[in-house]
Amino acid sequence: MRAVGIKGLGYFVPEKVLSNFDLEKLVETSDEWITTRTGIKERRVAAKTEHNSTLAVNAARMALKEAGIKPGDVELIIVATISPDSNFPSVACLVQKTIGAQKAAAFDVSAACSGFLYALTTAKQFVQGGMYNNALVIASEKITSLIDWTDRSTCVLFGDGAGAAVLVPEENDGHGILAEYMHADGGFGRLLAVETEGREPLQQDNRTMPVPRIVMQGKELFKIAVNTMAGDAEMAARKAGLKLDDISCVVPHQANDRIITAVANKLKIPKEKFYINIQRYGNMSAASLAVALCEAVREGRIKKGDYVLLTAFGAGLTSAANVLKW
Ligand code: ACO
Repeated sequence: MRAVGIKGLGYFVPEKVLSNFDLEKLVETSDEWITTRTGIKERRVAAKTEHNSTLAVNAARMALKEAGIKPGDVELIIVATISPDSNFPSVACLVQKTIGAQKAAAFDVSAACSGFLYALTTAKQFVQGGMYNNALVIASEKITSLIDWTDRSTCVLFGDGAGAAVLVPEENDGHGILAEYMHADGGFGRLLAVETEGREPLQQDNRTMPVPRIVMQGKELFKIAVNTMAGDAEMAARKAGLKLDDISCVVPHQANDRIITAVANKLKIPKEKFYINIQRYGNMSAASLAVALCEAVREGRIKKGDYVLLTAFGAGLTSAANVLKW
């Protein structure tokens, strides 16, 4: 089995910024409430003509350029998403066509906010086993298409964006993705779900199809998120043969700054080691961690030789953690 590492990273966020002050005009909320309860100041919102696949393609092109791999040489594309352009074709197939990756197999993974890590670990198996020599992993969300803009308990939390990573066999001894852990508990599925109440298998009039919307039990999720993200992180570090003290940078899923603080306290890792960009983007579901990883590297928060811990939690419920040596 060969080691696998990340050769290129990319990300893309829509131009339109929606600030907490903009939201004050939509629902009964305040910048003060959103900032103190979540850490979010603003988020990005994709335009009507900007689809999930549009964001994904932009992130993918940046990652491939950094990796020095031509689209025609890509062998596998996996897109993590819960907000695809449509049920089918998959976002991965739309990306494949648009970038011209004629050789690649392509499919989507649905694991909500843990999606990037689920896709990373899935792609790693193909490259590690030798079936493919590279894989393009994208996490892309147009999650604002699922938002009920009259529901203040959810509409303030989410934003759109995409991140991408190119996996290849690792050239440097001891570097690359060292360990992974994935978990799911469908028993908690109703705590965070997209409801399409009233949808019938066969409708007389398709124009009356109900609009999907996110429903969430925030308090219950909060507690589970903290325990799961910390537990999975410990598990992945142990699998990598590391102590938590060895970790230089933690890139967590960005659902709530208070969740990140609680995870840091539970793991006894100083919060300064956590990369946080939730203030600028809100929760971009699967894309959050992919964008954060890319920014952390670009800002010099992750350097060659560093041990990096990624940990995520999302609807399903799903959770996952990975440890890398950069
Ligand atoms: N503005 C003002 N007031 C609000 C808002 C808002 N946007 N939203 C809710 N409130 C009110 C509530 O109505 C409630 O009022 P009441 O006391 O009069 O009933 C009060 O604020 C407190 O509400 P809580 O829900 O108790 O607030 P809490 O401190 O739990 O914070 C939050 C809510 C931010 C959603 C928090 O529970 C949370 O982050 N939970 C985790 C959510 C999460 O991680 N989701 C995604 C994970 S998976 C994924 O990423 C797909």
